[in-house]
Amino acid sequence: MDMNNLPNHVGIIMDGNGRWAKARNLKRSMGHKAGADNLEKLLKHIFGLGIKYVSVYAFSCENFKRDADEVNFLMDLFVKMFGLKKKKFVKDQIKVIFSGCTDNLRSDVLDSMNNLMDATKDFDNHVFNVCLNYSGRREIVDMAKKISTMVVDKKINTDDIDEELVNKYMYQELPDLDFVIRTSGEMRISNFMLWQSSYAEYYFPNTLFPDFNGEEFDKAIMEYQSRHRRFGGYDEKK
Ligand code: IPE
Ligand code: IPE
Ligand code: MG
Repeated sequence: MDMNNLPNHVGIIMDGNGRWAKARNLKRSMGHKAGADNLEKLLKHIFGLGIKYVSVYAFSCENFKRDADEVNFLMDLFVKMFGLKKKKFVKDQIKVIFSGCTDNLRSDVLDSMNNLMDATKDFDNHVFNVCLNYSGRREIVDMAKKISTMVVDKKINTDDIDEELVNKYMYQELPDLDFVIRTSGEMRISNFMLWQSSYAEYYFPNTLFPDFNGEEFDKAIMEYQSRHRRFGGYDEKK
């Protein structure tokens, strides 16, 4: 692995928890528990490599279509993990932020999110962005609302709207995604960070998320480093 060519911002669509559980004759919720345990170890590994930004897809707006039991289990798991892991994020100096909208979220979930954000807001070596109750299209719609309100209020002119300003009014102001991994073999984006991934490299391992460990991540990085990113230009030498 070339430590001088690591992605600055990695996105992970953590998919396959349900199938992991099914393969073991367990309830889907046990797959989510295994996924959460894996995420903790994986994050330690990724930030340990020196990668600065990690975004994960924890719950999409569309995931509310699932059975109430599963949704409630996930919400309970979020509250539990955010509370339990707060000390650890503080100790490791990881700033935790959230992307998504607040609609339909239980107040204890919102409280636990605010609590964790507040406790880690002054760190900036590592940033962990959790997409929770997130939809990439909805994020663009919400950005459009914020910017148009500023225009109506004459705080900015239409001519002031450029890519930098749009990025500033997404849920979080983040650098572009360099690399997006979706586990479990599904080859789609499912509404994940549409604006931020315009030039990202994609990787679709068959591994289910609870099994996607540090070793698998290193393999993914090796694949990333073998890609030739052109950004619309070309390089005579390659
Ligand atoms: C991803 O695993 C976790 C969430 C969407 C919350 P899934 O629950 O989608 O697992 P599969 O795709 O059914 O295996
Ligand atoms: C995407 O996975 C959302 C998360 C990983 C949180 P899904 O399992 O919900 O996506 P689809 O339904 O297969 O597209
Ligand atoms: Mg899935």
